[in-house]
Amino acid sequence: MPPREDSLDRELAWLHDFTPATRASAEALPSLQGERLLVVCHLDLKMVPYFEALLTAGAEVRACAANPATTRDEVAEHLGSLGVDVPARKDDPAGRHAAHLRAAVAAGPTLLSEMGANASVSTGGRLETVRGGLEATGTGISRLGSLDLAYPVFDWDSVPIKQGLHNRHLVGLMAANTFLNVTGLSLYGRTVLVVGYGPVGRGLADAARSFGAAVEVCDPDPAARLAAAHLGFPTPTLEAGLPRADALFTATGRDGAVSAEALASCKNGVFLANLGHTAGELPVEELRRRVVDMPRPHIERCEVDGKTLYLLAGGAMFNLAAGPGDPYDTFDLVTALMIEATGFLATEGTGYPPGIHPLPKRVWDHAARRYVREG
Ligand SMILES: NC(=O)c1ccc[n+]([C@@H]2O[C@H](COP(=O)([O-])OP(=O)(O)OC[C@H]3O[C@@H](n4cnc5c(N)ncnc54)[C@H](O)[C@@H]3O)[C@@H](O)[C@H]2O)c1
Repeated sequence: MPPREDSLDRELAWLHDFTPATRASAEALPSLQGERLLVVCHLDLKMVPYFEALLTAGAEVRACAANPATTRDEVAEHLGSLGVDVPARKDDPAGRHAAHLRAAVAAGPTLLSEMGANASVSTGGRLETVRGGLEATGTGISRLGSLDLAYPVFDWDSVPIKQGLHNRHLVGLMAANTFLNVTGLSLYGRTVLVVGYGPVGRGLADAARSFGAAVEVCDPDPAARLAAAHLGFPTPTLEAGLPRADALFTATGRDGAVSAEALASCKNGVFLANLGHTAGELPVEELRRRVVDMPRPHIERCEVDGKTLYLLAGGAMFNLAAGPGDPYDTFDLVTALMIEATGFLATEGTGYPPGIHPLPKRVWDHAARRYVREG
């Protein structure tokens, strides 16, 4: 086995070979001299080129974990060696995770780039040093909606090229793939219940079906159920669907989507996983009280009312916490988009009025053009 640094360097070199749009966007990034960027994101390998671009453009950069379950220690250490202030480590307990965020906020960032809006939420959206921010997730945008923001924040989650490729197709595809890797089992012949039929749930429903599962969908929104029914997916209520499900995936963006009481209706042997931003979509606390053992990495066997339930990845974002997330070449578009959005934020975006704004089309067009090799 090569030393870890060598294997990380080799993997990064491989990633760089397949991310030409990121390279082009990084080369076009305006100077960020004088900016202090606080990046709250999933600290996995695919984010490294984003940090490299920020540092090359002259920014001072701090990073916090969007979710301690998705942090890769070797990536955090590598970012530290590049000059990013990043104390996060995998599975940091809640107190330590919160302390990192407090310290990063106290350092007075001028720009925020977030996945989940933790820094804005922790300061009520009123952090005086901040001139503007970026938000990458639907969960973060809905959290920001309840704040009286003192600065503009640009929503790049709902940009069609992110929703259309990453959220709609790749999260589900990689989640289904991760199920096979983590469990060593197929989805063939299993009934999969998808809870939440937004872009993420749609991608999972399609992927699970193509992996041989019988897929059912539950969603309180009749338009979402109509879309699912149009593709031939049964659309039961959660209560009606639970007793049939061999595997359940939440993708709602809402804590409490599956309650502790609902566990009583689960089938013996069901696998429970979450793709939404927080681990609160599943009744993780209740399940964690019932863990009897861990038969494989990322699988906790729980006993509930005489039945066995398998909690996957502790209810954290399954595709990232227990799997690799997106393939490198498709994440190239996401990274290019983040870099284009950051350049826009620093040069023009901070002049927008406080509040949430869609990222302008001309900004994300640059990333799309670079990805299809037109720009
Ligand atoms: N795992 C990943 O890599 C990844 C990537 C992108 C987004 N996300 C996260 O996945 C979640 C979903 O993203 P999206 O873009 O599909 O969101 P979305 O808001 O577009 O769709 C969510 C759907 O869930 C439905 N819903 C709400 N409450 C529900 C409930 N209690 N039961 C069943 N359905 C319910 C809504 O009606 C909606 O149709 C968000 O938390 C988002 O941040 C995860």
